[in-house]
Amino acid sequence: MPNYYQTLLFPALKRLDPETAHERTVTALSLAQRTLAGRAALRLIAGRVPTRPVQIGPLHFPNELGVAAGFDKDARVAAGLALLGFGHVEVGTLTPRPQAGNPRPRIFRLPSDGAVINRMGFPNGGVEAAATRLRRLAARPRDYVLGVSLGKQKETPLAEAAADYVSVMRAVHAYADYLAVNISSPNTPGLRELQGGRYLEHLLAVLVAENRALAEQVGAPPKPLWVKIAPDLEWAELDDILATVLSVGIDGIIATNTTLWRPDRSSETCQVYEEAGGLSGRPLRARSTAIIAHISRQTGAALPIIGVGGIASAADAREKLDAGAAVVQLYTGMIYGGPGLAGRILREL
Ligand code: FNR
Repeated sequence: MPNYYQTLLFPALKRLDPETAHERTVTALSLAQRTLAGRAALRLIAGRVPTRPVQIGPLHFPNELGVAAGFDKDARVAAGLALLGFGHVEVGTLTPRPQAGNPRPRIFRLPSDGAVINRMGFPNGGVEAAATRLRRLAARPRDYVLGVSLGKQKETPLAEAAADYVSVMRAVHAYADYLAVNISSPNTPGLRELQGGRYLEHLLAVLVAENRALAEQVGAPPKPLWVKIAPDLEWAELDDILATVLSVGIDGIIATNTTLWRPDRSSETCQVYEEAGGLSGRPLRARSTAIIAHISRQTGAALPIIGVGGIASAADAREKLDAGAAVVQLYTGMIYGGPGLAGRILREL
């Protein structure tokens, strides 16, 4: 199928503010996934999607490629994204109560660099609203893996953050295939401090215990509990995190979130790079792969790695799998590559 996205659709979407473009994309996906014709159209866009099974603990992934957190913040379009070929979808990040996030505009495109800067700040409708949709998804057979990203309310002090993560976990535990602890968004003030020794061990130990308790109540095994880390850590900080993660019994690591680092600026992109927020897409790729390789070297096969950051092609995905990722995810690549990207990557892998 010709790439109508790059020739027709992206030029039109590019005229819209990036967040409006995203909202229209989510609305279109949401409408499409509800009807027979819409679902057929999504399958047509995906094209032939080869099955490439991956097992991570109890989770059976139909293929190695998923959608990273932040695309489907309120768990509205996981089914539609799966029809586009993605083998897993990480919805959220969700917080205990609804929150507005930062003032708009808060997403900025850097098309010549295949990148985006965002400072969303976890806008979402709150975990209760999302849990209603997740319950419906969980009630039907599903051929993709559904992850939920757990977050904290902006105003919750770090010392009380664990209670926020616990409350989001409780609301979604029955419906998620895996849970991701997001302590690496750069857009919630102080959040990344949770990656440090002072908070990390306590937070993760509380979540591991809660996960076990919730599972015991229903006589089921605990859900795989993964931690998502920032790319802006020193190697020594990363090693401390790995030691804690392994000692408290976390099941996997998602590497990485967006970066606060900025590349050398060309005159064209100079102004956009001044925007505050996390940078994603092509400039993040190498750093995120280096972190995956480091984690893989340090932990062997003890800790499954979910690789994310700058994937826009099969070669980019392959690079992360070769570095030690068991599966990979993307977000920014889809902004420039369009809805056919998952199928293209999976056919070429
Ligand atoms: C994100 N990302 C993100 N991550 C997360 O854990 N929770 C979130 O709510 C969000 N929100 C979000 C919004 C926007 C607009 C973007 C671009 C990104 C980060 C995302 O999941 C991923 O880790 C990075 O974007 C790097 O991957 P890509 O985009 O380079 O493929």
